[in-house]
Amino acid sequence: MGIVQWATSPLGQHVPIHIAWFLIWVAVIAGLAFLIVHVIYMRFFAKEKEFAADLERFDRTQLPARVPRHSLTARLFHWVMAAAMLTLLFTAFLPKIGVEFDWVEYHWIAGVVLTISILFHIVHASFFLDFWSIWPDRTDIQDAWNRVQRFFGKPAPPPRKFAKYPLENKLYHGTVMLTGLAVIATGIFMMFRVRTIFFPRNPYLFGDMTWGLMYVLHGLAGVGFITLTIVHIYFAVRPEKLPITAGMLVGTMSREFYLKEHDPSRWTIKNLNQPHRGTSDGD
Ligand code: HEM
Repeated sequence: MGIVQWATSPLGQHVPIHIAWFLIWVAVIAGLAFLIVHVIYMRFFAKEKEFAADLERFDRTQLPARVPRHSLTARLFHWVMAAAMLTLLFTAFLPKIGVEFDWVEYHWIAGVVLTISILFHIVHASFFLDFWSIWPDRTDIQDAWNRVQRFFGKPAPPPRKFAKYPLENKLYHGTVMLTGLAVIATGIFMMFRVRTIFFPRNPYLFGDMTWGLMYVLHGLAGVGFITLTIVHIYFAVRPEKLPITAGMLVGTMSREFYLKEHDPSRWTIKNLNQPHRGTSDGD
């Protein structure tokens, strides 16, 4: 039982045509298994988070009661992207598990919305947000090492509080970015195989082998998004993460939550004492 479905081309070549659809269930089960293991770990084994105590000298009265976290533009991007992603997942995979409908048109339209929103996000994040906030830095790596040591009961200093994003979020973002680039790059070419409003259909753009590999990559990245989306939604609804999820709706988080999880020297809130003026660092 391979992970790719093969066929014989008109030229008699043995070519891949797409992934084997049982991978949909592998991805769903992987997402649910992660969720179950994490729930058990958090419920029975996880200890209270411990951070290096280094905020004693921080003057918390400098912070607004509600700390800006995501600007309106960033929040709109997030929800447009989420709507496009869910539409892509449902239109792609429902027909494969027996819910038949004319999915291709809805699918490529959602694909175009996702592509435009990601292009917008790249420009927005590069020139208007704190670009480096989502990439692992030296402290993240040192702290990750210390956290692993402490997990195995070895002596190591407690980690510092997080910058804007913990290492786990940064790694998740990197994975989504690579998987997203794969579905988008292949999806744009696959639009030549169907009728769209953008360019004339041209199924002869590539040979059968190249098309087949492209469909396989699109499918593998696509099922990857099933697992990634399950994990993302699971964390969004976990009770201790709800203030972060609410931040993606209202744009702010409480000063107490900010100080509990974040290090003001690693995630500096600008415009201190001007809580009603714009979004400070709100990316
Ligand atoms: C998470 C995002 C996405 C998922 C889960 C996904 C999944 C899928 C799957 C499973 C197929 C069927 C492939 C096959 O038969 O082997 C498909 C087809 C297709 N996808 Fe996507 N896709 C995504 C994003 C995109 C994007 C961003 C675009 C366009 C920019 C796109 C354009 C297409 C097109 C045009 C087809 C139809 C090809 C055909 O029927 O010949 N997809 N997609």
